[in-house]
Formats: sequence, C-alpha cells, structure tokens
Amino acid sequence: MDTPKPNSAQVGMVGLGVMGRNLSLNIADHGFRIAGYDRDTAATDKITSEHAATAFPIGGGFIPAPDVKSFVASIQRPRRIVLLVTAGRVTDAAIDGLTPLLEPGDCIIDGGNSEWEDTERREAAAVAKGLLYVGSGVSGGEEGARFGPSLMPGGKREAWDLIKPIWLAIAARVDERTGKPLTGARPGHPVSGGVPCAAYIGPGGSGHYVKMVHNGIEYSDMQLICEAYHFMRDVLAMSTGDMAATFANWNTGELDSFLIEITADILRQKDPVTGRPFVDVVLDAAGQKGTGKWTINSALDLGQPAATMAEAVFARNMSALKEERQAAAKVLSGPHLAGNAHVAGPQGGGGHNPNWVDCVRDALYCSKICSYAQGFALMAAQDRARSWGLSLGEVASIFRGGCIIRARFLQKITEAFERRTDLPNLLLDPYFAGTTSDRQQNWRAVVARAAVQGVPVPAFGSALAYFDSYRSPRLPANLLQAQRDYFGSHTYERTDQPRGKFFHVDWPDPKRPQSAVN
Ligand code: 6PG
Repeated sequence: MDTPKPNSAQVGMVGLGVMGRNLSLNIADHGFRIAGYDRDTAATDKITSEHAATAFPIGGGFIPAPDVKSFVASIQRPRRIVLLVTAGRVTDAAIDGLTPLLEPGDCIIDGGNSEWEDTERREAAAVAKGLLYVGSGVSGGEEGARFGPSLMPGGKREAWDLIKPIWLAIAARVDERTGKPLTGARPGHPVSGGVPCAAYIGPGGSGHYVKMVHNGIEYSDMQLICEAYHFMRDVLAMSTGDMAATFANWNTGELDSFLIEITADILRQKDPVTGRPFVDVVLDAAGQKGTGKWTINSALDLGQPAATMAEAVFARNMSALKEERQAAAKVLSGPHLAGNAHVAGPQGGGGHNPNWVDCVRDALYCSKICSYAQGFALMAAQDRARSWGLSLGEVASIFRGGCIIRARFLQKITEAFERRTDLPNLLLDPYFAGTTSDRQQNWRAVVARAAVQGVPVPAFGSALAYFDSYRSPRLPANLLQAQRDYFGSHTYERTDQPRGKFFHVDWPDPKRPQSAVN
C-alpha cells in the first residue's frame, strides 16, 4: 500500500469493517474522495479491491492509507474524520491515536453506537483542544451504510456545517409528500431526488441519544413481531409458510416496514442443511449489545414510563436463560396449546368466530403505536432536561427511510407533529387516538387469549397496560400513597385540596385531626 498524497482526500474514515467500508463506498459514490485507515490491513485490502471494481461516475474515490500519520496528512483541512469502530474503549483509543495529529478546526465524527454521555465527554475533550466533534447516529445496517442510512448528527452547529454536504448527500432519501423511501441505488449509482433522512439533531450527545431511543424502539418493534409470530405459531397453529404469507400481506398495508418485510423473507427461508424452515433451526436465545438497556436506564432516570421497550429488553434477557427455562418447563405446567380456548372473541359475543389473524395484526399495530409513544415521550423528556431544542417532527421524518425502524407508519408520526409540534404523547393525536379506539377490542382479545392459553406476550400486554393506564383518570396510586404514609410518614395529597399540599395521618390514631405538612 503506497503512502497517499498529502491533501488528496476530502474526508477520512477510521475503521474499515463492514460499516466503515460500506459508508466509505457510499461517500465515494457521491463524488467525495475519501481516505481510509484500519489497523487491520486485511480490512483495507478488502475495500481497496471492492473500490477497484466500482466505477464512481461523479469523481469520488477511495484512498487507502498504511498508517494514521499519512492518513491524517492526506486529508484536506479542516479535516473531517469519521470513526466507525466498536463503541466504548476502542472509540476512545481511536480518538487518542488521532488527536495529537489533528489541528484546530478539524472535526471528528463518531458514527458508532456510542453512549450519549460518552459523546458529551469526548466532545468536551475535543473542544478543549480546539477540535470540533460530532456524535452521529447511523442506522440502517450494512445495506443502509452502503446505499443510504438514516443519520442523526449531534454537536455544535459549526461542526454540523462542516459535515453537512457529505451527510445530506449520503443519507437515504424519501419522497417528501408520501415519506416513501426512494430505492434502486446500486454501486456507483446513488438515488437522487426526494429529501434526505439526515438533519441536525442538536448539541452535545443529542444525536447519539436519539439513535439510542431509535434502538429501544427497534427492540420493541422486533419483540412485538416475535409475539405476533408466537401467537400465530402456538395458538393459531399456523404453518411457517402461512405466517410468511401473512407478514407479506401485512407489509402491503399500514404495517408496511423494513422489519415486517424481512420477517416474511426469514419465514420463507429454508435451512440449507436440513431443509426445514430456517427459523426452526435457530436457537431461541437472543443477544444484545446494550442500546436497548441504555434506553431503559434513561427512561428510569427520567421517570418516564417506557414499559413496552423495557419488556422487549427483558424478553431478550428471559430468552437467554435457555437452560433454566428448559429445566423449569419440566416442573411448571400450563394450559394446552393450540386448543380452542373459550375466550370471548373481539366482538365480545360468545360463539363468534373472529378472524384471529386480523386480531393479531391489530394487536401488533396498537402495541407499536404505544411503543413509539413511549420512545417519543422519552426523547421529549430528555430534551426538557437538557434543553437540546429537539424537533420531534424532524426526528420522525428522518426515521422514514434508511434506518432499521423505517416504516410507512413514520409518515403518520411526522404528520402528527406537523399538526401539533408540542404534542405531549402520540396517543393524543387524532389519527392514533382513532386507530387505538377502533382496534382495541381485537388487541384485548389477543392478550386475553394468549393469557388463557399460556403463551407469553409481554410487549403486547405491557403496551395494552400502558394504553389503559394513560387513558385512566383514576389509578390505584391513592392506595399506594396511603401505604407510604402509613409505614413511612411519606405524606400524601388530598383529592379535596389543591395539588402540592401534603398531609400526614397519625396512623396509630387515625381519627386524630390530620396535619398538613406544608
Ligand atoms: C441500526 C441498528 C444497529 C445494530 C444494533 C443491534 O440502527 O442500524 O440498530 O445499530 O444492528 O446495534 O443491536 P443489538 O445487537 O443490541 O440487537
């Protein structure tokens, strides 16, 4: 590998694993010359040969660098250097290796799944050295990185101004009016037109925060789909082929989304070794890298109810207890599966034979609405806490294409925030209020039947509990406050007094006059 010429590149990439390689080729597709460096020379060789096989009609290209020093020297100033390396210590080490070689005004862009608080710490350290720093969510997996991801950059505006031409060029694009992703990109031929799925999110770690919540929503989208599959498989006794056809059919309507589409593909797939449905040979023990857990940690810190996303994380934890579950199955009994349980159908009439597949579709859609309501409410709460100035409508609009949760549904959320920018909860928007009102009987029927037949649907159930709690003017927390006052003198507010006035009952003698505490 030759040493690249100084100032020959307009942008640099550190980390040429699959994401870094694909994003580099995407950047080259859009007419930029990008220098690349990876400690692993095999990764650099791989992109170099892929690059040689691609024509970049509008003048972009990839310039490999054998070491960090010549890599940095090859980039025009002010330098824009993207990092796509493993989050955590590897990111810190990459920054430490680069920083002494950079000059004031140069900009580091972390495109990994970094924790937003790490991003704030790294940005402060970079700024103290006169550098600019962007923490950018990059969603869309390998394919998205290559042909158009959804991008969520956070940092100082001047840092955004520096990377904006590249970020807007390489992002996925959607039709402005319908929100439909524009497809058909191929190597050397990116799509054009429409609007890009990239926008300045806000200062500090806000870009990585929004990406984290995207992943929390991704976790619940995936879990909800798994529960629909579980219900169809074990309660409705549907074949894998019928389930594939059902998901494919749902993908033509309001549930149209990347995750539903790939679910249909997966269910159609046969295992090349055994010829059985591929999904039947995959072990039911889920992995995770942590972004879902971080979302829930943040929800707990902010006191935000995000139970559906939390259940999705816990469902992965439960799945990972494979051996323990196998042992428990020998001890604990439950109802027989796939029987015709006597649960009132969605219309409530005994003997009515509802179309259970439609019920599952509605349970999935209503639960999805609740999970997004939780995710957007969480982003709003963090925005209030940090004064980031997030535009949730813009966040919804950049989720419409490129990212893993891209879906027709995101257009509805975009429109909801256009109707009301300060919407406190998605469920209050007329479209979502109407949809949950129309579909809830089917949703309830699925949750009830799953409970009767012993099939766990934690995310469907928790979404329904969230919906029922959120629409309840009176929850049982009056009793809870009384209990707290009883055993710990924690005080309570009264229904017949203004909010904010606290009282305490002298419990050994509750007939004595109550004392106001403030
Ligand atoms: C994306 C994905 C991506 C990655 C997740 C997977 O938006 O492109 O979210 O970031 O696939 O990190 O996370 P788990 O390994 O935790 O499922």
